[in-house]
Amino acid sequence: MRPLTTDQIRAAYLDFFHAKGHTIIDGASLVPENDPTVLFTTAGMHPLVPYLLGETHPGGRRLTDVQRCIRTQDIDEVGDASHLTFFEMLGNWSLGDYFKEGAIQMSFEFLTKVLEIPMEKLAVTCFAGDDDASKDEETAAVWRKLGIPAERIGFLPKKNNWWGPAGQTGPCGPDTEMFYWVWEGEPQGNPATHEAQWLEIWNDVFMQYNKNADGTYEPLKQKNVDTGMGLERTAAVLQSVKSAYETDCLKPVLAKVLSLSTVPDSPEKIRHARIITDHVRAATNIIADGVKPSNVDQGYVLRRLIRRAIRSSRFLGIEANGTFVSSIASEIITRYEKPYPQLKILEQDIREILSREEQQFSKTLQDGIKHFERALSGAKNSIDGTTAFHLYDTFGFPLELTKEMAKERGMNVDEEGFKKAFEEHQALSRAGAEKKFKGGLQDSSAETTKLHTATHLLNAALRRVLGDHVSQKGSNITSERLRFDFNHDQKMTESQIKEVEHLVNEAIEKDLPVRYHIVSVEDAKKEGAIGVFDAKYGSEVKVYVLGNDGDITSREICGGPHVARTSMLGHFTIQKEESSSAGVRRIKAVLSGGPKEILIAEQVS
Ligand code: SER
Repeated sequence: MRPLTTDQIRAAYLDFFHAKGHTIIDGASLVPENDPTVLFTTAGMHPLVPYLLGETHPGGRRLTDVQRCIRTQDIDEVGDASHLTFFEMLGNWSLGDYFKEGAIQMSFEFLTKVLEIPMEKLAVTCFAGDDDASKDEETAAVWRKLGIPAERIGFLPKKNNWWGPAGQTGPCGPDTEMFYWVWEGEPQGNPATHEAQWLEIWNDVFMQYNKNADGTYEPLKQKNVDTGMGLERTAAVLQSVKSAYETDCLKPVLAKVLSLSTVPDSPEKIRHARIITDHVRAATNIIADGVKPSNVDQGYVLRRLIRRAIRSSRFLGIEANGTFVSSIASEIITRYEKPYPQLKILEQDIREILSREEQQFSKTLQDGIKHFERALSGAKNSIDGTTAFHLYDTFGFPLELTKEMAKERGMNVDEEGFKKAFEEHQALSRAGAEKKFKGGLQDSSAETTKLHTATHLLNAALRRVLGDHVSQKGSNITSERLRFDFNHDQKMTESQIKEVEHLVNEAIEKDLPVRYHIVSVEDAKKEGAIGVFDAKYGSEVKVYVLGNDGDITSREICGGPHVARTSMLGHFTIQKEESSSAGVRRIKAVLSGGPKEILIAEQVS
């Protein structure tokens, strides 16, 4: 096995798939743009959904990237050897190009030839089949042909070996997962027979079905492959360590946290140090993608991550009064600035946001202590579970802290009651998270697509009314409204707002055609397209053009999709113009009266 560093694994993966005809694309932001159904990017395929549904990708039919992801469903498990809220996913995609055999051959070659993982330590699982789709014998046959013995091939049901759709409807299909034997001694069986001993490192999803709203599965015309390889797990395997926290990137961060601790060694100490390492890494990346701590959406998740890290620091005997979390963030940035130079550029901002939150939270902690004292005066010999949970949830008191404080007064804590309140809360927040997801990309796509096209018209109108200095600083679209951030120093006047609104509605009434073409970043600049030029030099981008030759209203680099004609937008109204941050204004706007069914803009050469 090649003992590669995390940086080397990223490079080896991209090089390998590039040599196999894949275009290397940039990973997307952790905050999905134009997708109201989830708070965070949870997989490499997520930003690629429009292309999996048939949109043309400027990079072609074979793509590869490294995607930073956030998954918080198992946040309470973080602290063990494997759970993480932030992780990196290596991925390669076939958009209607190669399918099962090609994908598996490449995965196998990368694992055994590039990473040099001994074949004896590999096992795979395939879909066992059910009423919706048949047993995936085809996949198993490819593995056998490559030399994986039947004993190492497990068949598992949908719960394990099926991926997607991302929403309620959309592309999905059986998958085949690849595992490494992490136990002592000779490998045995496969993940279907010896689950705990085999660690999943890679998943090849064969998106051959579309799930309909009525729950049925129909075969897709364009069969795609979506793969995801966990970078931290792969690094742990190659570096022969038992946990992601022992790999080259995270180990120094964990060591720094432990070096600041003043309590004796114990498994609990390791658990809390891991929580801090994971949560601060996630928080650092979320802030780098433009989120600030708040009480809603992404900002709330960020706040929870920071506060949980601070709570754990108290367990380690670390005083977190303003500089602790930011010092760990700097340690993380040192480890990640090479692949993610933006982190270094934003380091000061990230540190300030973390310090402010830390200072604020230390005050909340004091309020929590007062709340505890009040609860104490009404209690007989036990703090009830609801109070303990309230202290945990609202004031960030770990149960351990409440127990310690209660003990000092000769009291107990109703731990069963705490557990019950905790579980109820967890069920509620899971339901909430699922709801976000269940919106389904398709369900809202007509509305979000319309708002997306309206955003281009708005951007163009703002530049006409306020000047060419205006450029997009952020965009967020739900099925109800668009939100657009742009740089401009002053509050817009009433008449400027009216003028912008009028220009957008005028463009809608003109029923302009919307089309796109694919060019290099350099050519897009030459033709005067606006938009975010963060694509790599030499890579190709889509330019969406709204208008007719000689009368172009907007020319913008964008992934799409968009409506085919502006008349499909109905009527455009600005609801709010406000400050977003220093020098940045924010507009919220809605559309009304457009058709429910839309046509999607197509490519012109
Ligand atoms: N989408 C699949 C996963 O998240 C493969 O990338 O596992």
